[in-house]
Amino acid sequence: MSKDKVVIFDTTLRDGEQSPGAALSINEKIEIAHQLAKLGVDVIEAGFPVSSKEQFEATRRVCNEVEGPAVAGLARASKKDIEAAAQALESAKKRRIHTFIATSPVHMKHKLRKEPAQVLKMAVEAVEHARQFTDDVEFSCEDACRSEIPFLIEILSAVIAAGATTLNIPDTVGYSIPEEYGRLIAQLRENVTGADDVIFSTHCHNDLGLAVANSLAGVSNGARQIEVSVNGIGERAGNAALEEIVMALQTRADFFDIGKSPVNIKTQQIYKTSQLVSRLTGFVIQPNKAIVGANAFAHESGIHVDGILKERSTYEIMTPETIGLGGSRMVLGRHTGMAGFEDRCKQLGYMLTKEELKEAYERFSEVADKKKEVFDEDLAAIINDEVHRVEQVYQLDYLHVSSGTGTLPTASVRIKTQSGMRLAAAWGDGPVDAAYEAIRKATDLAPNLEGYSIRAVTGGKEALGETTVKISHDNQMYIGRGVSTDIIEASARAYIDAINRLVAGQGRDKSEMKAEL
Ligand code: KIV
Ligand code: ZN
Repeated sequence: MSKDKVVIFDTTLRDGEQSPGAALSINEKIEIAHQLAKLGVDVIEAGFPVSSKEQFEATRRVCNEVEGPAVAGLARASKKDIEAAAQALESAKKRRIHTFIATSPVHMKHKLRKEPAQVLKMAVEAVEHARQFTDDVEFSCEDACRSEIPFLIEILSAVIAAGATTLNIPDTVGYSIPEEYGRLIAQLRENVTGADDVIFSTHCHNDLGLAVANSLAGVSNGARQIEVSVNGIGERAGNAALEEIVMALQTRADFFDIGKSPVNIKTQQIYKTSQLVSRLTGFVIQPNKAIVGANAFAHESGIHVDGILKERSTYEIMTPETIGLGGSRMVLGRHTGMAGFEDRCKQLGYMLTKEELKEAYERFSEVADKKKEVFDEDLAAIINDEVHRVEQVYQLDYLHVSSGTGTLPTASVRIKTQSGMRLAAAWGDGPVDAAYEAIRKATDLAPNLEGYSIRAVTGGKEALGETTVKISHDNQMYIGRGVSTDIIEASARAYIDAINRLVAGQGRDKSEMKAEL
């Protein structure tokens, strides 16, 4: 990788997946990894192989099944971790071992209970060991921003001599301020022996809302790799958001002076990637989220709309097309035929099989009957809803809900199964609760409802509602989604989707991995 480019190292599947409440199955990780490859990230951190069988398997499968990016596996500075990572990465065309150890006084004293000299020795031995399996070795000094600079210089010089090729400077607890973080990168680049032969990398957490700003300050001071996650998901407040970093580097290429295309990212894939990650993790994107939020390109005030109509650049610093959203906000309607529908799907980056296209079109027609204008965001939600379904052991055939002030909310459902229709009726605290109780009765399953959220896909009173539910059963977590112009129906669809995932065994247990990090 040329030093005139910034390497995009995506850690959605590792740090991102450590977000409280995220629960990705191995198949879902593979799906995201394929999309990350389409997006054009340089490195995919696929997991922390030693931490659990699932993490190992997910990393191994990404190596086997996903073409393009290098694949990284995380490992603490120990032989066991490094060997597990090496084994999981064995079949990757381009493999990277990412080993780390904490270097701040507070971590060394209280967490590791080790002296700095011992930490330095472990770091060097880890890098030397990792080099036996690959010549692409990244070393991270965990909690770098609260570490003593002379110690950082010493340990980083030593790991370069031991063979590290990328030096990552994590702001593990999101404590740094941009100017300070930039200065740290500059100081390290000036003083670490061998600094010119390696790539300096940023890995900033967002506890103070500064992850993106800190990462960019790192780039201004010579860092040439940024560790990011899609939608900024990750531990606590998350990591630097991929879409924000990429669009900042691209939109302000004049400021960063790294060349016209500073990253290898195909920005038209950004929106689709963001939607996929949101859907599979169950993390709804806030409407005002930069780049990928529902309002990111919406103009409401009269003065702004007037300006936009006269000349887009008055209020738009980048176009929605750049991230893969159609330029025109009103696109399809009930008279749109299959050809127009297929064309729009392609423009949005969805390459559907004939069967998927047929199913998505049927659903689109249902929605278009109720909703006059179907926007690109609606289309993305419909496609995700249809295409990402597991086998539909249970299908919602009929739903009737009755509720109101002073009445007992009741629901009746008819659910289609391979062995015939199942009917049930129930009452609840509210219409959704009543519908869920009726679904539980009809399916004979009683998972716990762990989370429920609903968002309007676009604005207006006819907006599609998208519901996300998280259910748990036998220590496994499952996420379901449903969309409809009727929010109770969207809620029922989401619940049935989660139940179908339960039946398909598509959940995962997070406790194992949490204990390790
Ligand atoms: O935040 C952090 O320090 C990390 C390291 C493991 C790179 O995620
Ligand atoms: Zn991290």
